[in-house]
Amino acid sequence: MSDGGSMPEAGLEQNRFSNYLLVSLRLAMTKEIGFEMAASNIRFGPGITHEIGMDLADMGVRHVMVLTDENLRPLPPVQTVLQSLDDHRVSFKLFDRVKVEPTDASFKTAIEFGQSGAFDAFVAVGGGSTIDTAKAVNLYTTYPADLLDYVNAPIGKGKPVPGPLKPLIAVPTTAGTGSETTGVTIFDLVEIHAKTGIAHRYLKPTLGIIDPENTRMLPSAVAASTGLDVLSHALESYTAIPYRERPRPERPKLRPAYQGSNPISDVWSLQALRMVAEYLPRAVENTEDNEARGMMLLAASYAGIGFGNAGCHLPHGMSYPVSGMAKSYKPEGYPVDYPIIPHGISVILNAPAVFRFTATACPERHLEGAAALGVEVSNINPDDAGRILSDRIIEFMQRLNIPNGLSAVGYTSGDIPALVEGTLPQHRVTKLSPRPAEAEDLAALFEDAMSYW
Ligand SMILES: [Fe+2]
Repeated sequence: MSDGGSMPEAGLEQNRFSNYLLVSLRLAMTKEIGFEMAASNIRFGPGITHEIGMDLADMGVRHVMVLTDENLRPLPPVQTVLQSLDDHRVSFKLFDRVKVEPTDASFKTAIEFGQSGAFDAFVAVGGGSTIDTAKAVNLYTTYPADLLDYVNAPIGKGKPVPGPLKPLIAVPTTAGTGSETTGVTIFDLVEIHAKTGIAHRYLKPTLGIIDPENTRMLPSAVAASTGLDVLSHALESYTAIPYRERPRPERPKLRPAYQGSNPISDVWSLQALRMVAEYLPRAVENTEDNEARGMMLLAASYAGIGFGNAGCHLPHGMSYPVSGMAKSYKPEGYPVDYPIIPHGISVILNAPAVFRFTATACPERHLEGAAALGVEVSNINPDDAGRILSDRIIEFMQRLNIPNGLSAVGYTSGDIPALVEGTLPQHRVTKLSPRPAEAEDLAALFEDAMSYW
């Protein structure tokens, strides 16, 4: 003991304190040494939606809350689910007030409905908005709390989900968010005009039922926007900061779901890109092309498994204020009477600007991404990686009739300070950028994203 003598206990305390400081300092400086792969349960096949009643009966479920939106309610995906529940004597209540691009208020409405029914399982039939709403209802009815308690810090308190949730079966009807495979739920916090969310492995659905029959009704414009979300999920997770570059958490349970690029996510992300290149234009241009639509559903899940473990970065982080501050844009194909910028559009509008910026950090990964999207890259100089990848994304945007940059959805340079302010708190994703982006970098990226051709 260095200072023993007359006050041994005080010395012991001091030593303990120094050791604590040393351990804390070492942990703060230690880079991550491992990554964890959380697999998702998905079932794929045309017609498998009919099985859902049997699944719930086999789980011993007695009373189910089925969530959907009012447009989808009369259509075959919802009707098939309800018929299957009836056939297998599983009692249910239908909640059809999910809001497309949900808000804190719409989450609360759904949670109140969930609290009123003593439900022991949840079924979500719809796009990412519906599946995300169901995750929130499952969480807040199982572990009641203020809405902001589990929301990502610094916007919310970032409390971890206390334990496992009830069964949730997700039946996606769009091929985009991959929400059926992830432990993430996103909503628009209206008072700050930006999207935020909750991320925890326990939020992951028990099962995703991926049935190509369910995307038959998908309008072309929705197939385009959700398909480009898939493309960006895959590119962002493939180019995210490598997991070893993140700080090592103090305890394994504090290791985030979004861990940075890792060898297993890479496999899913690259394959998703190849599938998008082959099937997305077909799925958009011919609504009868069932093979292409089925393959895009599968691609969305592949990308979901990739980004669900690696994470997204700047295109998504920047998309949250772009969606949250929508003023007047009403997109084709979305039957809503309020302005929205669909998630996939708000993401892809930032993507070309971002990948030009991030390519210097890992040019080879940007080139591999471009190659997976069908570009011949063998003779390309790595210095051109950002331009090559961005040009390829722009080709997809043009072919799929996506608006030409942020100016085409109502933004001007005068909006950039607010867009930057809305992006800065999105640490959960922006810190995974392979090249750090400060406020001035984000301003330059938004300016670059104003128009592309
Ligand atoms: Fe997304």
